[in-house]
Amino acid sequence: MRGRRGRFIVIEGPDGAGKTTQAEMLCRELAGRGLDVLLVREPGGTAVGEKIRRILLDRRTDNLTPLAEAFLFQAARAQLVDEIIRPALGRGTWVIADRFSASTYVYQGCAGGVPAAEIERMSGLATGGLWPDCYLILAVSEREAEARKRRAGRRKDRMEARPAAFRRKVFEGYREFARRHAGRVAVVDASGSPGETFRKVLEALDHALG
Ligand code: TYD
Repeated sequence: MRGRRGRFIVIEGPDGAGKTTQAEMLCRELAGRGLDVLLVREPGGTAVGEKIRRILLDRRTDNLTPLAEAFLFQAARAQLVDEIIRPALGRGTWVIADRFSASTYVYQGCAGGVPAAEIERMSGLATGGLWPDCYLILAVSEREAEARKRRAGRRKDRMEARPAAFRRKVFEGYREFARRHAGRVAVVDASGSPGETFRKVLEALDHALG
């Protein structure tokens, strides 16, 4: 694989879908195949991005408008794409991202009320038009996601402490994103065990990368 551009794989989905587990399993799998692999998460992944992350997830951050919030997520993304993702792909590294542009479309757009076209313009600027080679959306029911979060028992951050109506719109938002980009994203059923979901992730990956 040396000398060849790496591949960019994004794993997306609502809180509780199991993205982080799948992203880590995928990293191990690809590294086991002898590939150079890098795992990044959004928001964050760079020094400045982690600072922005702290502002966004801090429950003391209040009165942030959805548009301002979208700019902060996009700023962290612009830095990550430029500083980390593009150079890594250029070196032949495979990059796996835990969240990407769909999150802003869904959380600040569909749930937060910023018009979809504006979010997509911002994402286009922040990413310089970079679109993943494989864009995976993990699909899970609201009930299952809530049960998983309860079992994990983490303290809720600012984004997770949103009212139920907001969280419901997030689920609809991912379905809308998948419809809008049908053919360019793969929806993976994530309702089963991590192992079952991972088999489906690998199938979707094989299909997308040929
Ligand atoms: P994180 O703790 O990374 O959540 P998870 O483990 O579920 O990915 O927190 C990221 C939070 O930020 C999550 O609630 C989704 C939200 N988010 C947005 O609202 N917009 C975005 O563009 C991104 C990347 C994340």
